[in-house]
Amino acid sequence: MGKNIAIDGPAGAGKSTIAKSLAKKLGYIYVDTGAMYRAMALYMLRKGISADDTAGIESACTEADVSIVYADGEQQVILNGENVNGLIRTEEVGNMASASSVNPKVREKMTELQRKLASEADVVMDGRDIGTFVLPNADVKIYLTASIEERARRRALEYEKKGMPADIEQIAKDIAERDYRDMHREHAPLRQAEDATLVDTSDMSIEEVEARLMELCGAQKNGGKSDFFA
Ligand code: DC
Repeated sequence: MGKNIAIDGPAGAGKSTIAKSLAKKLGYIYVDTGAMYRAMALYMLRKGISADDTAGIESACTEADVSIVYADGEQQVILNGENVNGLIRTEEVGNMASASSVNPKVREKMTELQRKLASEADVVMDGRDIGTFVLPNADVKIYLTASIEERARRRALEYEKKGMPADIEQIAKDIAERDYRDMHREHAPLRQAEDATLVDTSDMSIEEVEARLMELCGAQKNGGKSDFFA
């Protein structure tokens, strides 16, 4: 079993930015579990499977092979042999990922892959159910959140940077809906694990969040290294 750091939280809380930089600093592998659910969702959208088509979603679980490789230290998601990294960061795919991830078969398939990755390497893994369900024995658990307004503002900025249109009010509405669905689903809903530390990033800079997380990982001592991470 590798060393495992679990970072959970709602959409747009800054998990992936922070988890990626934390992994780099610690020399761990970053695992973005949302990207795996997004790849499954992309498969479904391409097949015309709708969010309420349980049979279609379950057959997608046997037809779609999702795996992870790393290129230049960046996670790449492979869907049936195709690198789909550039195709999964849209609101449409995100919303379908949120809707289809309520299905226990989808969760079972993704959980299996995530646990395998965490058993083979030291990982910083981010998602919704990592500390509560996927890696209940993770060495460090963090619940990262921010207000809906701030999360919508950050998402809109991300889209603008990529030259994509961004309607901040629509994004806030989608985020609120997604929060509700992710938190109220029956299987492995989004919630803070009892032993996770809450970090509200609404009024924090990226540098402040990074410093706080390094501290929580016990890695501030000895100039970035600690016994835990030695
Ligand atoms: O983090 P993200 O926006 O890329 O995730 C997209 C959706 O995938 C999210 O709304 C719910 C689902 N998801 C999940 O159910 N469990 C995870 N560990 C990660 C994501």
